[in-house]
Amino acid sequence: MDDQLARVLDDLYQEGRAHDGPLADRLLRLRNMTPDAARLISTLIRARRATSVLEIGTSNGYSAIWFADALRDTGGRLTTVDIDAGRVTAALANLEKAGVREYADVRHGDGAETLAGTPDASVDLVVLDAERPAYVDYWPHLRRVLKPYGILAVDNAVSHRDQVAAFHGLLASQGEFAVALHEVGDGVLTGVRVR
Ligand SMILES: C[S@@+](CC[C@H](N)C(=O)[O-])C[C@H]1O[C@@H](n2cnc3c(N)ncnc32)[C@H](O)[C@@H]1O
Repeated sequence: MDDQLARVLDDLYQEGRAHDGPLADRLLRLRNMTPDAARLISTLIRARRATSVLEIGTSNGYSAIWFADALRDTGGRLTTVDIDAGRVTAALANLEKAGVREYADVRHGDGAETLAGTPDASVDLVVLDAERPAYVDYWPHLRRVLKPYGILAVDNAVSHRDQVAAFHGLLASQGEFAVALHEVGDGVLTGVRVR
């Protein structure tokens, strides 16, 4: 990552923290992923040479910038979706400012519907960073859309362990995924599809 992009990301992250600080309503907060969590997932994108990444929960595009930068290296593309139209507009502007707009499709819509419309075995890595109780319902489509050795990454798996527990259990229960919980940022749960 070049210095200018690192500065854009640092400024955006600090702005997000300042924005969220005084807000009591969780849904009004931008809730950006921590830089360490975004760096870990970006490393997975590069290590897998992922070319197709789907993020559910764009917010203002902070994590999307990290992933789009990694996908610039791999020759791939990010699809990221958010249910809030204002956030989609903000994300597009931030991706443009960061110089990585061309590596991302930012969609306004529901994550479940986006997953349902995603072809079988077409995605290298899925990032879940939206409303955690919904992830269990995503499960059949997540299994369907991931390529062999595709990766699932779930943020807030330590900070909101109780809300991710049922999904964690599903991921670990069927022997299809090699599961690991990384104590990075707010906790990143990963599953690599091995069967
Ligand atoms: C934790 S924030 C995402 C943070 C973002 N990944 C980042 O690091 O900057 C969660 C986002 O999920 C969005 N969201 C909530 N429910 C959704 C759904 N069903 N489909 C798509 N997005 C959803 C919210 O509007 C919110 O912007």
